[in-house]
Amino acid sequence: MKKLTSEQLREKYLKFFQSKGHAIIPSASLIPENDPSVLFTTAGMHPLVPYLLGEKHPAGNRLTDVQKCVRTGDIDEVGDLSHCTFFEMLGNWSLGDYFNHEAIKWSYEFLTGEEYLGISPDRLAVTVFAGDEDAPRDEDSAKVWEECGIAKDHIFYLPKKNNWWIAGKTGPCGPDTEMFIIRDQEPCCERCDPACDCGRYLEIWNNVFMQFYRHEDGTYTKLAQRNVDTGMGLERTLCTINGTPSVYDTDLFEGAKAEIERLSGKTYGEDPEETRAFRIILDHMRTATFMLGDYRGVVPSNVDQGYILRRLIRRAVRFSRQIGLPGGNLRNIAACYVEKYANVYPELKQNEDRIYAELDKEEEKFGKALEDGLKEFNKVISHIPGEVFPGKTAFRLYDTYGFPLEMTQELAKEQGKEVDVEGYNNAFAEHQKKSSAGAEQKFKGGLADTSEATAHLHTATHLMQAALRKVLDPSVSQRGSNITVERLRFDFNFGRPMTAEEIAEVEKLVNEAIKADVEVVMEEMTVEEAKAQGAIGLFESKYGDKVKVYTMGEFSKEICGGPHAKRTGDLGTFKIVKEQSSSSGVRRIKAVLNK
Ligand code: ALA
Repeated sequence: MKKLTSEQLREKYLKFFQSKGHAIIPSASLIPENDPSVLFTTAGMHPLVPYLLGEKHPAGNRLTDVQKCVRTGDIDEVGDLSHCTFFEMLGNWSLGDYFNHEAIKWSYEFLTGEEYLGISPDRLAVTVFAGDEDAPRDEDSAKVWEECGIAKDHIFYLPKKNNWWIAGKTGPCGPDTEMFIIRDQEPCCERCDPACDCGRYLEIWNNVFMQFYRHEDGTYTKLAQRNVDTGMGLERTLCTINGTPSVYDTDLFEGAKAEIERLSGKTYGEDPEETRAFRIILDHMRTATFMLGDYRGVVPSNVDQGYILRRLIRRAVRFSRQIGLPGGNLRNIAACYVEKYANVYPELKQNEDRIYAELDKEEEKFGKALEDGLKEFNKVISHIPGEVFPGKTAFRLYDTYGFPLEMTQELAKEQGKEVDVEGYNNAFAEHQKKSSAGAEQKFKGGLADTSEATAHLHTATHLMQAALRKVLDPSVSQRGSNITVERLRFDFNFGRPMTAEEIAEVEKLVNEAIKADVEVVMEEMTVEEAKAQGAIGLFESKYGDKVKVYTMGEFSKEICGGPHAKRTGDLGTFKIVKEQSSSSGVRRIKAVLNK
């Protein structure tokens, strides 16, 4: 196998697919655009959903990129050898162009080719879809793998649970074929296969043959086009090909790890508990740095993305104390990541000041919560008879004061008590049930939702942003947007509440633009052309990339991914229903369209 640095692996992947006719596109934001269905971009396909559903992508039908992703579902596993809450996904896409034959052949070439990863074919295993009532057994893909040089007994047929990919509950999906490295480890049993979690098979790449749409009722329909969506985990692949013991021993973490060692005086790898703490700090601080440094930067709060960020920072603070890392140093760890990733993600350097200021602020705040929580803990424990510390109370300490369970467990143990973990888990599950019910309600309205109501609200958002710039200040710009079928929600930078007159004026301007009934014109152009024409929006693309610019008469010109109304006259009457603070220096408007 080839030994590669992270920089070399990214470049090799992109260049390889470029040589196969793919356009290299930049990573999209970690915060999905206009999509309330998920908090973070969890896979490379996420920002491409509209194009998988048939919209034309300005860069063409074959794309390749490295996408920043966040998945926090397995946050408790972080600290082991392979789990990370932030990761980069290398991907290549066919938007109605090539299908499984080409995708598999190219995957094989990249995995085994001497000038690429140079993995010996007998170290590879693959899985294909076993077939069921929704789609046939994928013998076709298995045949292509065999033709490439994968031995028959290294090809496994697995059911939907393993070999079908979908982001969430509904949306574009399809059977997949997954690629695994076989590690130097004996099979755990006679039937040991890639579905087994004994560690013999490590998944590094997935090719999804996206040709279906899964509806709310669980039925599938065929998409208008057949797509390929692939994802190779950068961290895992690096770890595998370089033979490092864990993902935390790859070059991505080198600088930050040395800094933690310097600051704490501890050595990574010496003590298992401390090593776990090191990994948690390394992981959480990297994710926090990317969230704070994103184009649509997140700041710590008690809801949505801000809540996840807060949890990560607090957990990092807590584990920092465990290894004796003095307070006020989170910014120094973040600085190592800003440095390491500056060439690939220039936004980190651009937003460096915000990253450090927010980390300082949150660390200071949690110091306070930690103190208050300790007081509460001491009060509660003096009233608990027996040896069991109630799970509900442990959850309250977690929820209110940000105390991780392990910390409460440690504290309770010192006083001869044990936390009722089952009770804690039940309280946690109860809480999650409530918040995921909320998340499901929010599901509609994402970019995947092209319903008329959503399209109209997207268009109204453009008109409103233009009006806000006229009425309040030309420097007003979007800090966040969230659209459901019922309403739009828009966050923007502005330092004080709007007056009733200003709200009325914005409504008036938007309604006038609607009455003018101008056509909503979409044009594709380069970012530079869009800027030259005075378009507003997030200029997150690279030089030369094509973007879509929506123009409404003289009123609005903005870069956007759509969907939109055909004419402004289709919108109905625009009304602002709420104007409130969102976070410091950021206001939030909720508005509706009445027919
Ligand atoms: N979308 C696929 C995944 O995330 C490639 O595994």
